[in-house]
Amino acid sequence: MTITHQDDLDSLRHIGAIVARTMQAMAKAMEPGMTTRELDGIGRTLLEREGATPAPEATYDFPGATCISVNEEIAHGIPGDRILKAGDLVNIDVSASKAGYFADTGASFRMAPVRPSLDRLCRDGKRAMQIGIAQVGHGKPLAGIGNAVGRFAQANGYTLIRNLASHGVGRALHEDPEEVPTWPTQDRRRIHRGLVLTVEPFLSKGGIWATEGDDGWTLYSKPAAPVVQYEHTVVATDRGAVIVTLPG
Ligand code: CO
Ligand code: CO
Repeated sequence: MTITHQDDLDSLRHIGAIVARTMQAMAKAMEPGMTTRELDGIGRTLLEREGATPAPEATYDFPGATCISVNEEIAHGIPGDRILKAGDLVNIDVSASKAGYFADTGASFRMAPVRPSLDRLCRDGKRAMQIGIAQVGHGKPLAGIGNAVGRFAQANGYTLIRNLASHGVGRALHEDPEEVPTWPTQDRRRIHRGLVLTVEPFLSKGGIWATEGDDGWTLYSKPAAPVVQYEHTVVATDRGAVIVTLPG
């Protein structure tokens, strides 16, 4: 969507804070022995308490309120019987709507004990997202996001998953502009004032493509390698990006 009124921004910030707080609460609740279904249940309860509707379920019939992807799973993991273990890398992606406004956020979390190499990947994954967000602003090239993230990844010996794009959001979970690349491209589109989009690079130590598993949802890295994703929903303004998925 394109934001033209303060009301729109306020509504977007409201659902943005809800998804951000839900994700943080889920991350805090994670512990070894818990199933991903239980963790999803915590997220569902928090969203419902806020009057928010889980977007993947409502939009795509995804079998869960949130996406929980563990270790080799990199995105769209289905909450279920999988038991969380010490040392797991867990991606939690929360998207939801309220009063017709949608926000989308995600992050990768480590369960203690933390492997130093994963620690670095997580830190740099966050940095890659921030570098992408810094390229958002009125009149800027859309390709600036992926080109900046790509320079950072290359300079630091990382790869980027090249078929999991960022996207427009706001009045639907996925809307125009579809397929915002977070890897280097020659994309000619420009970002306009008020545009709402996600910035969610998938940074990896070798992964290049996401491939779908047998359940029709879960995505895996090809070649197999650790992957992290950090995602914010942002609004493009004359002075750069405004992040709306903050806990507030
Ligand atoms: Co997301
Ligand atoms: Co997204």
